[in-house]
Amino acid sequence: EKGGFEFFMDKEIEEQPAAVAQTLLGHFDGSGIVLDELRLSEDDLRTIDKVFVVACGTAYHSGLVAKYAIEHWCRIPVEVEVASEFRYRDPVLNRDTLVVAVSQSGETADTLEALRHARRQKARVLAVCNTNGSQIPRESDAVVYIHAGPEIGVASTKAFLGMLTANYLVGLALAQARGTKYRDEIAREYEELTKIPDAIATTLTLMDPVRKLAQEISTAKAILFLGRHVGYPVALEGALKLKELAYMHAEGFAAGELKHGPIALIEEGLPVVIVTPSPVTDPLLHSKLLSNIREIQARGARTIVIAEEGDETVAPFADFLIELPKVPKLYQPLITTVPLQILAAEIARAKGFDLDKPRNLAKSVTVE
Ligand code: F6R
Repeated sequence: EKGGFEFFMDKEIEEQPAAVAQTLLGHFDGSGIVLDELRLSEDDLRTIDKVFVVACGTAYHSGLVAKYAIEHWCRIPVEVEVASEFRYRDPVLNRDTLVVAVSQSGETADTLEALRHARRQKARVLAVCNTNGSQIPRESDAVVYIHAGPEIGVASTKAFLGMLTANYLVGLALAQARGTKYRDEIAREYEELTKIPDAIATTLTLMDPVRKLAQEISTAKAILFLGRHVGYPVALEGALKLKELAYMHAEGFAAGELKHGPIALIEEGLPVVIVTPSPVTDPLLHSKLLSNIREIQARGARTIVIAEEGDETVAPFADFLIELPKVPKLYQPLITTVPLQILAAEIARAKGFDLDKPRNLAKSVTVE
């Protein structure tokens, strides 16, 4: 059942192109985006003036990415919050608030309680979920299923890419209902999304050098991850995967924050992974990241740079360069997450740990 792989996680990482393709399937009917179970009218969607994404762990990171897409496409404010905090701080909610609850298992107690709280305050609730018939979709007004297939590895991989994908669909559906994007623009975005599975498949073929690198840095005492814009949640996700699987100290930062504190951590030999934006689609942020990378390298740290293929400007400052296929800016997390998953998995393997069952963790956390 592991299909020749050592761990389910290895198999699930390889299944990511299919997970994204399956999640997209059937959500475009030729004229627009269609969501699965929608017990909300287009009118209900049109009046939404505020979105909260509530989730935990990796699902929360998918929400952080969604914020960039939804605000850009729909021009409504989006807040993203860990479910356990949201529930207990008296957030401002009403009928025109959409609360998006993202959960692989659909049973996470913190997320479920957050959505119940939102419903009591009359907010609309939309679930993004991988598990049919689970509690979170049952208690929601609308559902977008992630069709990633069952995920056995405790550390989430293909479900994360599925969540990102489903969140984009939610954003496009909202933009459509609100009229902030033309139909043909939405069709074009969907079309771009359908090209992503191939780009992920290509990315997976480029991972052998990352596996080698993982061996080399498996004895480091910590690893830092930096990114900006949608690369920032990817950095957080990379750090979480490393903590979970390799029990290593890892932290993700917004690269712009480096000079406001974390730069004090930079020392000789410290591996620092930098998720770099495209020099073509995001030249401004690219140049800012470039100066971060130079600074880090100048202080003797080991720069591991994730960049778009053909980005020649970063090469001189990268002690290790991972070049990935070019995709539209908002969709980069679907690609840039992959090497970070591989890095964490291979470091854990080098240390002899069980990739499927990290210590102290459970696949679904049903207590608050
Ligand atoms: C990370 C991980 C956890 C879960 C979190 C939410 O690899 O597995 O952080 O993402 O417990 O779980 P779901 O998505 O089932 O609500």
